[in-house]
Amino acid sequence: MSEAHLWWQRGIVYQVYPRSFQDSDGDGVGDLPGVTSRLDYLRWLGVDALWISPFFPSPMADFGYDVSDYTGVHPMFGTLADFDALVAAAHARGLRVLLDFVPNHSSDQHPWFVASRASRESPYRDWYLWRDPAPGGGPPNNWRSNFGGPAWTLDEATGQYYYHAYLPQQPDLNWRNPAVRAAMLDAMRFWLDRGADGFRVDALRQLVKDEALRDNPPNPAWRPGQNPYDAQLHTYTTDLPEVLTIVEAMRDLLDRYGERVLIGELYLPIERLVAYYGPGGRGCHLPFNFHLILTPWDARRIAALIAAYEAALPPDGWPNWVLGNHDQHRLATRVGPAQARVAAMLLLTLRGTPTLYYGDELGMADVPIPPELVQDPWERRVPGLGLGRDPERTPMQWDAGPGAGFTAGAPWLPLADDYATVNVAAQGADPRSTLALYRRLIALRRAEPALAVGAYAPVPASGHVLAYTREAGGRRLLVALNLGGRAASLALAGRGRALLSTHLDREGERLEGALALRGDEGVVVALDA
Ligand code: GLC
Repeated sequence: MSEAHLWWQRGIVYQVYPRSFQDSDGDGVGDLPGVTSRLDYLRWLGVDALWISPFFPSPMADFGYDVSDYTGVHPMFGTLADFDALVAAAHARGLRVLLDFVPNHSSDQHPWFVASRASRESPYRDWYLWRDPAPGGGPPNNWRSNFGGPAWTLDEATGQYYYHAYLPQQPDLNWRNPAVRAAMLDAMRFWLDRGADGFRVDALRQLVKDEALRDNPPNPAWRPGQNPYDAQLHTYTTDLPEVLTIVEAMRDLLDRYGERVLIGELYLPIERLVAYYGPGGRGCHLPFNFHLILTPWDARRIAALIAAYEAALPPDGWPNWVLGNHDQHRLATRVGPAQARVAAMLLLTLRGTPTLYYGDELGMADVPIPPELVQDPWERRVPGLGLGRDPERTPMQWDAGPGAGFTAGAPWLPLADDYATVNVAAQGADPRSTLALYRRLIALRRAEPALAVGAYAPVPASGHVLAYTREAGGRRLLVALNLGGRAASLALAGRGRALLSTHLDREGERLEGALALRGDEGVVVALDA
């Protein structure tokens, strides 16, 4: 494998949602010792790094994305010693550990906000965004919360409103205040000193808001029944130029620690997303690219997406692709179980760092959550639109035993009905399972520099077929994916040999003139020189 590439360029990232990965103490909620106990699985799977969603002290209004102490571990998840043990065990296995840093907002229970709220004269007042009511009363402007309703909440005692891009329990920090910057960079330093290999930075595009508090304009494309937050364009609340100066400060800090990685959560159109590589490449190493999630599952649309992304990347910008996370409906539910396998081949053969979401390697699907069991505050505040995120956060399915091997207690979210068959133990023993496919794809990516770091070139195809080549050191691989359910065929200029089919049954097949694809099949072909 090319030594010229860094681990996070060659590597594969795996997201662990710690509440749902492995419970070690029977309280029904996953924890850090649980994650540690499953590191051998991640090594067996073949990934390079795990990104762990927040495990910091938190009242859990947004399940850990409301942090009340940036340098601690919530007792439910364990202790700092458990974190240290996790990092040591991961590093001993050659696995990197990435943390989820939540800088846009703290919990309303964070001592900074408690002090800020206490009085207008508090030295912490300016650590958050406080404003007087509008002249006639009411919120200072029309800004909306991502989770429904106004983004301003009145504090009766001091007579001012505070801004929260998310829940009222998640007040936004004031990143224009140098003391906030310093304190937050200190928190990052704390984890870097303890061995963190980098961060996924939460809600990055939202760190700075318009100082003049201008109203956001209406979104002409919005229709009733869609996410109410999107009824406005987020012109004055997201992606302001000042955000990049903060990203650069974070990057400077990481660079002092060597090969650490800075990943940004950035739901932005491609032309704005690539700006986050920063001037001179001094920004995010990996501005998360969510466009495979957001683009309709159609071969022509996806071919156009890849072309647009490749064309937009700055010269030194390393690409990345994501197919799932804890905020998005499960891949297998979005595209169906058969296409989920094709999607896995796409993700793991594209140029750029792939990020996997726990359980997708089993083909786990969304689990319907009855109203009385809903946990996600978004679903509670904006019910019935399918915005709730519980369905994609259900426990990892390890085996067919009680609690799916996830917990000895009652799981915090229901287990999938099919967990007795869709689980690591069963699929690990089945050479044609989705898990087997993921393992083979990951192993192939590791073995073939063409896939890990090689050049990308599109191959003309029509209908439901998406095709491209990857090439390094004179070795050329063709990837052909049938995004449709019917048989299709792709002309082959030369000859080749099938390396891997999503059906796991064509290895070694000689090919000449044409590549026949079954419905819902993807194939990687080694082209003859
Ligand atoms: C990000 C997280 C999401 C969280 C929100 C507020 O989008 O991924 O889970 O609710 O930020 O922190």
